[in-house]
Amino acid sequence: MSDAADKFDTAMTAWQEWQEAPWGRLRYTIAETNLVRHLDAEDGPLRILDLAGGDGGDALRLAARAHHVTVVDYAPAMLAAAAERASSAGLAELITCVEADVTALPADIADGEFDVVLCHNLLPYVDDVPGTLAAALAPLKRGGLLSVMAINRHSAALNIAVREMDPATALTALDSDRARTQTFDSVLTLHTAEEITPVLLSLGCQDVRHYGIRSFCDYLTDDARKYDPAFYADLEELELAATARPPYMHTARLFQLTAWKQDRP
Ligand SMILES: C[S@@+](CC[C@H](N)C(=O)[O-])C[C@H]1O[C@@H](n2cnc3c(N)ncnc32)[C@H](O)[C@@H]1O
Repeated sequence: MSDAADKFDTAMTAWQEWQEAPWGRLRYTIAETNLVRHLDAEDGPLRILDLAGGDGGDALRLAARAHHVTVVDYAPAMLAAAAERASSAGLAELITCVEADVTALPADIADGEFDVVLCHNLLPYVDDVPGTLAAALAPLKRGGLLSVMAINRHSAALNIAVREMDPATALTALDSDRARTQTFDSVLTLHTAEEITPVLLSLGCQDVRHYGIRSFCDYLTDDARKYDPAFYADLEELELAATARPPYMHTARLFQLTAWKQDRP
């Protein structure tokens, strides 16, 4: 296993705690809602490819809707956790786990003609964004749906100023595209929806939609209150109402872009 993959595997416990926390739950719920609004319920079970799908946070939710999901990741412990979660949820038959680097997909996946491809929270870890997005589009059938998610660079300075009460560091973050993830002990590259959208269009995507994930949650500093079920329910409703509403998506913690694949012009 590469050192890079090893970093993801050793952080499993912290990652799982993050997913269970209110802000983790919001991330998956809002992404699912945004995806489902573009999936035609009458199409029946879809073939979905979740690139760098980790321990299956998105895959489980989509399999619970009766879709077939292939999770590709290069970190074996992540994939083992995905398989375990699928089995515990009675969804093992709908989730296939494949250990591979997304930049070198096995031929049967690269040629897979999937209905939907997810590329969620991979871009902060790659150097070649256009190449990664091209690799994500290759296994997607013509007219299929791509969903890309990443940390929103516009949120960085706000996050530091509001949560850490550190305006001096926030000032430097205004002009930086680098950040550090404590969970995975890695340097991240931060992007914006405004930068990624033209890349998608240049690769032949059309009808790109921009959603914000966690427009409010990360700017409420009382994290303990978010565990209160009534408070969480109100927060989730607010987040869902704001996900596609300007200006909130522009400063949300994450951006999600959906787009339809066309042949490259
Ligand atoms: C932050 S996690 C996100 C997991 C999942 N997409 C989610 O949002 O819940 C990043 C994942 O990307 C995987 N990853 C990073 N670079 C990769 C690559 N080149 N090929 C395959 N997996 C990769 C890591 O192993 C890790 O599971």
